Amino acid sequence: MNLFDVYPINPINIVKGAGSLIYDDKGTEYLDLYGGHAVISIGHTHPHYVERLENQLHQIGFYSNSIEIPLQQQLADKLGKLSGKTDYQLFLCNSGAEANENALKLASFHNGKKKVIAFRKAFHGRTSLAVSVTDNPKIVAPVNETDNVIFLPWCDKAALEQAFATNEVSSVIIEGIQGVGGIQVATESFLRKIRTLCDQYNAVFIADSVQCGYGRTGKFFSHDFAGVDADIYSMAKGMGNGFPIGGIIISPKIKPAYGMLGTTFGGNHLACAAGLAVLEVMDNDNLMQNAEEVGNYLIEELKKFEQVKEVRGRGLMIGIEMPDELGHVRMELLKQHHIFTGEAKPNVIRLLPALNLTRAHADRFLEAFAHVLQSSRQPIAV
Ligand SMILES: Cc1ncc(COP(=O)(O)O)c(C=O)c1O
Repeated sequence: MNLFDVYPINPINIVKGAGSLIYDDKGTEYLDLYGGHAVISIGHTHPHYVERLENQLHQIGFYSNSIEIPLQQQLADKLGKLSGKTDYQLFLCNSGAEANENALKLASFHNGKKKVIAFRKAFHGRTSLAVSVTDNPKIVAPVNETDNVIFLPWCDKAALEQAFATNEVSSVIIEGIQGVGGIQVATESFLRKIRTLCDQYNAVFIADSVQCGYGRTGKFFSHDFAGVDADIYSMAKGMGNGFPIGGIIISPKIKPAYGMLGTTFGGNHLACAAGLAVLEVMDNDNLMQNAEEVGNYLIEELKKFEQVKEVRGRGLMIGIEMPDELGHVRMELLKQHHIFTGEAKPNVIRLLPALNLTRAHADRFLEAFAHVLQSSRQPIAV
């Protein structure tokens, strides 16, 4: 049997990892500033994480949501403590798309309305409603097409006001920092405007925090920079450091009812153990502070390279916009210097490393980046 060929892949077989370093089957060491797409939040094979998962496996790995699973409440308590959203309610699932799917559905159950506002270049996942609010026609199948979604220009307040005026809007979904869209930071005043209009029109503010959340920017949710609360935050990626777990936290004003949401795998014992291990390490090792400090350092240093078009982002979610003629830099970093980074089309290098990235590893990247830029300089024609 062949694999269903949907991914362009690098011919590299990673077999081992520790912290921000990973190793292929030939023993070559790589610096991981991609984190397997913003997933590795506390570093590969963190000892506390390995121990907690191993212990849990020896107890029980899975049972369904038909019984009490106290680990879920422990996870909710810890999440409340670290995020500050202590009065929110947690629903657990398995991925980012599923988290957004549940958020959008819950919003519509809550206010009985159908229209969703999403934004140009947004990415919210590949399941039916999540892909409908994703601004990429190539990945929307005919069966997912709907006229319930209104796409608006990024951070355009007048367009937002106009879309709300119909009073049919059920929810607004927005990434605090667009990831796939090229590391575009939502303005704080725009996020506040969403809050005001959602209150005015009884609509639900959904903060997609799948990539930009979970401490990556130095605050637990990147939307927190605006100083207002969303009604639902969706989470996944960094939540399990590689173990598939996602979730939404829901404002107390949205009331639950049996049957509204449900899942077989979501919130199982092993997933909760992984989620707890991540939050314990984040808390004990002050990882949000580290993300802010090392992230700010990287951003400031990157801004000094005159060949770079723009540096965007917050904390350890960084986009380096390269000019067209330097579109090869990302591949050179991998080939020459064995550094994994992410990309956003056409020419943005995305840095999404573990939140405990050290200053020394940040410097190793900066030196390699300088070297690639230096060797890319064209001799001046005379
Ligand atoms: C902002 C955002 N939302 C949702 C998703 C979908 O998450 P998943 O791939 O876990 O379904 C992603 C994945 O890249 C994402 O970046």
